[in-house]
Amino acid sequence: MATPAKRPHLLFFPFPVQGHVTPAFQLASLLHRFHGFDVTFVHTDYNRRRVLRARGADALAGSPGFRFVAVPDGLPASDEVAAQDMAALLLSLPALVPHFKELVLSDELLAASTASCCLVSDVVPVQRAAKEIGLPCVTFWTSSANSFMACCQFPQLAAKGLVPLKDTEQLKNGYLESTVVDWVPGMPKMRLKDFPSFIRTTDPDDAIFAMAASIAESHRTVPSAVIFHTLDELESQVLRAMSAILPPIYAIGPLPLLLRQAAGDDDPAFVDASGSTSLSKENRACLDWLDGKRAKSVLFASFGSIVKLTDEQLVELAWGLANSGHDFLWVIRSDQQQKQPVLPPEFLAETEGRGCVTSWCPQQAVLRHGAVGAFLTHCGWNSMLESLSAGVPLLCWPGGADQQTNSWLACTEWRLGVEIGEDPRREEVELAIRQVMGGDVGEQLRRSATEWKEKAALATRPGGSSSVNLERLVNEVLTPLM
Ligand code: UDX
Repeated sequence: MATPAKRPHLLFFPFPVQGHVTPAFQLASLLHRFHGFDVTFVHTDYNRRRVLRARGADALAGSPGFRFVAVPDGLPASDEVAAQDMAALLLSLPALVPHFKELVLSDELLAASTASCCLVSDVVPVQRAAKEIGLPCVTFWTSSANSFMACCQFPQLAAKGLVPLKDTEQLKNGYLESTVVDWVPGMPKMRLKDFPSFIRTTDPDDAIFAMAASIAESHRTVPSAVIFHTLDELESQVLRAMSAILPPIYAIGPLPLLLRQAAGDDDPAFVDASGSTSLSKENRACLDWLDGKRAKSVLFASFGSIVKLTDEQLVELAWGLANSGHDFLWVIRSDQQQKQPVLPPEFLAETEGRGCVTSWCPQQAVLRHGAVGAFLTHCGWNSMLESLSAGVPLLCWPGGADQQTNSWLACTEWRLGVEIGEDPRREEVELAIRQVMGGDVGEQLRRSATEWKEKAALATRPGGSSSVNLERLVNEVLTPLM
């Protein structure tokens, strides 16, 4: 009897944070369901425990040809939903390498298929380890191409003496705002303020700065291709500039729209299930609450899975929301909620009926809901793409990492949002909410948002840029590698 032909196998290993796990899962689902790849999707133990708590064992059961595995990460097996700290996570990545190697070499399925297997990852130490053991790999960069390009400039910023900062005073005295960087290919009119927050260090040996600074070099030599979760139309200049310095690049996104497009209307359950792999329990009741609201009357406020506001910022934001007079849906994650409530009882009393606070919502469905008029966001890349896909304008309050660059893009390049200051008082929040929810500014933003929504829809239809790039990725890179 002939042995059945081996199916090509993709090993997905995303950086273990919601904003990276979600798009990796979306891409894995697309390639599995519509392009004939088997998938092994790697969680860290910590995230695996979170999925089990939030969604039960079914969420990790997989399906024929798609399975989940987990590797140890050394994080405590606490039942608490601990805040994830971006810096600590970045520094802990090398510890995953031995577990990754052990997985590839000892796992029966992977060991049997290494000849027809490819790693898809944004974890550089894991990619290097793959190269060492002869496993081909491609990068899936889950944030903006602009943030990648900005990190590529770190060595030059340091060589020109612009960073590291001389002292922490420079964070307050306007140095970041007034220092213009006009030589970045494809990124005109940048200020130091718009670079990823990893430049905001006074330590010349800062490990995270060094990690970001080495991005260009490691991507020139290790992966066979770089996939960006974006669309050509959105970041065309920088994508063009980047093709000169990287292996072949493919702009493929927004992935939730590509999934929807590929599945058609026939299979909403599949689209829902592959749209996100939530690490937290969703409260779907907020969709019913939105049903009772007028079109575009609600401000949605949510800050992703990592950014943590201080108690003072929470209170200022609360009063800004209350005083704006607009209805709002506000996600305050469980790890952000204290044992002692921070929100003043007067705020809760004043906003009863027009405010809904929840710890985690089905964000994509919320943004698609007609009652949502604008999105107050930390500018995580998935949040930005989800808002753009739904045609919802942005009120940008970047926290850290790539978010400063994403906010700059949305406000100056796409004209999709306005930015509020780093530590806004309640009056500033109130004014900004009024601006984006109504008036001339709001009107202009809504017009741009509608245009971007149409461009994103076009890019993901058959023949659109992202659909074509996906086909090219499969035919030019993934299939030949295996
Ligand atoms: C992280 C980084 O912080 C971010 O800067 C980077 O761009 C991506 O990785 P995160 O903070 O989690 O991401 O933000 P984001 O990229 O916006 O991803 C959050 C995801 O969680 C989104 O897909 C969003 O839809 C989802 N989410 C968020 C929910 O499903 N429900 C919520 O209540 C909040």
